[in-house]
Amino acid sequence: MKVPQSTPKPIRKAVFPVAGLGTRFLPATKAIPKEMLPVIDRPLIQYAVDEAREAGIDQLIFVTGRGKTAIVEHFDTAYELEHTMSGRGKNLEVLDPTRIQPGNLVTVRQQVPMGLGHAIWCARAVVGDEPFAIFLPDEMMVGTPGCMKQMVDAYNEVGGNLISVLEVPESEVSSYGVIAPGAKVSEQLTEVRGLVEKPKREDAPSNLIISGRYILQPEVMRTLEGQSAGAGGEIQLTDAMAKMIGTQPFHAVKFAGRRFDCGSKTGFVEATLSLALERDDLADEVRAVMTRLLAQ
Ligand code: UTP
Repeated sequence: MKVPQSTPKPIRKAVFPVAGLGTRFLPATKAIPKEMLPVIDRPLIQYAVDEAREAGIDQLIFVTGRGKTAIVEHFDTAYELEHTMSGRGKNLEVLDPTRIQPGNLVTVRQQVPMGLGHAIWCARAVVGDEPFAIFLPDEMMVGTPGCMKQMVDAYNEVGGNLISVLEVPESEVSSYGVIAPGAKVSEQLTEVRGLVEKPKREDAPSNLIISGRYILQPEVMRTLEGQSAGAGGEIQLTDAMAKMIGTQPFHAVKFAGRRFDCGSKTGFVEATLSLALERDDLADEVRAVMTRLLAQ
C-alpha cells in the first residue's frame, strides 16, 4: 500500500448530506428536518458542525433539499432575536456555536433524494480537487477528541481515504456497510481490502461497520459519476468507495468513543439520556427522574 512521503493536502472542506426524507421520524420530520431535531438543547447538525471545527475544518457544504431551510437559518444571524435579547440584558454566548465565518457555508441542492452517494456527488463542484470530510449528522459520535479529529490525525500519517469503523455484534452486520480488513497499521488503524453494503450475516467479511464519518479523495466524485443504483435502489457511497480500493490508500480508523444512531428512535433516546447524564447542569435531576421511572 502506497503511503505518502510528504504531508498530505489538508482537509478544509466538510460535506453534510442533509437532503434525506427522515421517514423514520415522521410525523416529527414532516415540516422540520431530521437534522434539526434537538438532543437536549442542540440540533443534530450542530453536534456534527462542532466536531468538524474541532478537527480544524471550517468550510461547510450542506447538501440540502426541499423543506430544509431551517438548517441554514440555524447558522445565520438572528438579528431580531439578538437585538431583543441584548435589550433584555441576556447573554448571547449561547448562540456562539451557530456563528459561521461569512462565506464558509455553502449549500448545494439534491432535488431528489437518490441516496447518500448521489448526495455527495451533488457537492462535486464545491469540493473541487481537494480531499474532503463527510459527516452524517444523524450518527452522533461522542469522544475526546472527537471522531473527525481522530481521523484527521490518522490521515496526516497515512493520507488517502479513511473511514471510521465500529465493532458490532455479528447479528447486526446486515443493517450496515461492512469492511473487509487488511493489514493492521496500529491498534486503531487498519488497511481496508473491501467494502460491502448490508451483507447477509454469513457473507459479512467482518463485524466492523462503517460509521458516519469519512475522509475521501476527490476522485470519488468521478467514481460516483454515472454509477447505477445499488442496495435499496439508491446510489450508494459504499459502492463507489469499494471501487477506489487498490487504486489509492484506504484505511479504517476504529473510533475510540461512542456512536449513537440518532436516525433510529431508540438511538435518539439513548443519546439524549446519555448526554444528559454527563451534563453538570442536568445529571442529578435526570438521574432522579430515571430512577423514579424505572421503579414504576
Ligand atoms: P438516512 O438514510 O439515515 O436518512 O441517510 P433518511 O433517508 O433521511 O432517513 P429515513 O431512513 O427516511 O428515516 C443518512 C444521511 O444522508 C442524507 C440524510 O439526510 C442523512 O443525513 N441523505 C440520504 C441525503 O442527503 N440524500 C439522500 O438521498 C439520502
